[in-house]
Amino acid sequence: MKIGAPKEIAEGEARVALTPDSAKQLQKLGHDCAVESGAGVAAGFSDAAYEEAGVEIVKTAAQLWKAADVVIKVREPSETEAKRLRKGQTLISFFWPAQNEEMLELCRKQGATVLAMDMVPRISRAQKMDALSSMANIAGYRAVIEAGANFGRFFTGQVTAAGKVPPAKVLVIGAGVAGLSAIGTATSLGAVVRAFDVRPEVAEQIESMGAEFLFLDFSDDMSGEGGYAKPASPEFIEKEMELFREQAPDVDIVITTALIPGKPAPKLWPEEMVRLMKRGSVIVDLAAEKGGNCDLTVPDEKIETDNGVTIVGYTDFPSRMATQSSTLYATNVRHMLADLTPEKDGRINHDMDDDVIRGVTVTHEGEITYPPPAPKVQAIAKPAPKEKEREPTAEEKRAAELAAFRKQTRNQVGLLAAGGLLMLLLGQIAPASFMQHFIVFVLACFVGFQVIWGVSHSLHTPLMAVTNAISGIIILGAILQIGSGSWIVVILAAISVLIASINIVGGFLVTRRMLAMFQKS
Ligand code: NAI
Repeated sequence: MKIGAPKEIAEGEARVALTPDSAKQLQKLGHDCAVESGAGVAAGFSDAAYEEAGVEIVKTAAQLWKAADVVIKVREPSETEAKRLRKGQTLISFFWPAQNEEMLELCRKQGATVLAMDMVPRISRAQKMDALSSMANIAGYRAVIEAGANFGRFFTGQVTAAGKVPPAKVLVIGAGVAGLSAIGTATSLGAVVRAFDVRPEVAEQIESMGAEFLFLDFSDDMSGEGGYAKPASPEFIEKEMELFREQAPDVDIVITTALIPGKPAPKLWPEEMVRLMKRGSVIVDLAAEKGGNCDLTVPDEKIETDNGVTIVGYTDFPSRMATQSSTLYATNVRHMLADLTPEKDGRINHDMDDDVIRGVTVTHEGEITYPPPAPKVQAIAKPAPKEKEREPTAEEKRAAELAAFRKQTRNQVGLLAAGGLLMLLLGQIAPASFMQHFIVFVLACFVGFQVIWGVSHSLHTPLMAVTNAISGIIILGAILQIGSGSWIVVILAAISVLIASINIVGGFLVTRRMLAMFQKS
């Protein structure tokens, strides 16, 4: 099959769906590749680089659409482009079928098969084709860079001879792919980062990236299907607003990424919050394309409010990093084509029983196949609902404590009685000098056991210092005995020196390693 990538015609779009590297991989699947002349220039890929990778350069878009069996693109097709589609031809691109019903109908009429890259289900197997995630990752990164470019201070706190600089405080709303990427970028630049999301399962991810998760005391679970969120209730949004009202005067940068698939972006940063922010603060609204999370966002523009807050509403962040985004997008498309070419024989096998292929196919064999059935695999397994345990009353708690104490005392008295009896019996046959040492030995074992068992794990390092001191005493004793005339005593003393030395040296090594964990490199 011939895979062809035309030049993107949307204004300002710099990305391209085929790179020289992805073309080489597609050729390994048995496909031929073609690209419209100049299609990759804005993303940093010259015609010469494509030619070197064995890609045919086609002069015009019309020629390319005619020559290709599979057309790969970034943006959804324009009407002119869709009219170039023919029966049996396949188009792979972003498509947004829910918002493009007329285009869907046109493609069906043309008899083409359309695979929408924005419809890849969020399941583990499909991650390598998840173009929405790879683009959102770039958008999250770029949002922080854009915020930094419009913010008059450092991200990281500094103490310099010229004065003390506090770190920038960044609030990220919505910790999906774009949000997590923004959190990672902002923390690595040294900012103090806080984040909020309606899905509580992301708290751990946020914290593992060094940011603080802002908890909201609300019992509803907002996690929806496929790793996305459900729309929040008005009560929830009200609580959320309270939280943001507290944060607004304190934070310097707000990056909003909150979105519910198929819905306009929720308004989470109204004008009231913007007014509460300090002069010089920056808001980057990643949801600008879907109406924005901030009331004052102007899509595709950067504005400054009367109180000196900059609001960035660009909708083309991935295109602003075209080399990176084209590389990732071309890889996503290449993986999609690999799944469509299971035999690696250059022939497309459109298997509608495959969850991923079914999910992305929006028109096929003259039919509209959107919306697809829900994938059989859940994106993120929800934990089984826990049965609510009844809190015991104060009286029940006291009774349980008393019973446990009684049981413990019974055990201890029993053990002491058995030990005492054993000593008495042993005293009948053993010499008095042996018994004296033996009792000291048994008591030492008992005290040692109690000391070590009673100490919590976090205190084992200081405990090791104490055992090192004991090992020091043992070594001294053993050295005093090593010159003894009896060979048994010499052997025992040598063993004692060896074991105590291992304990001392090992103790120092472990302590050093643990201290290194807390040292900043
Ligand atoms: P996602 O669906 O993975 O993440 C959205 C997050 O928002 C989810 O974690 C969801 O739980 C959360 N959310 C929903 N309602 C919320 C609420 N009321 N409060 C707090 N959190 C809430 O989406 P993804 O892929 O991370 O994309 C995020 C946004 O970035 C989208 O709006 C997307 O269109 C946009 N985007 C913008 C680009 C640009 O150039 N401006 C490029 C790529 C993506």
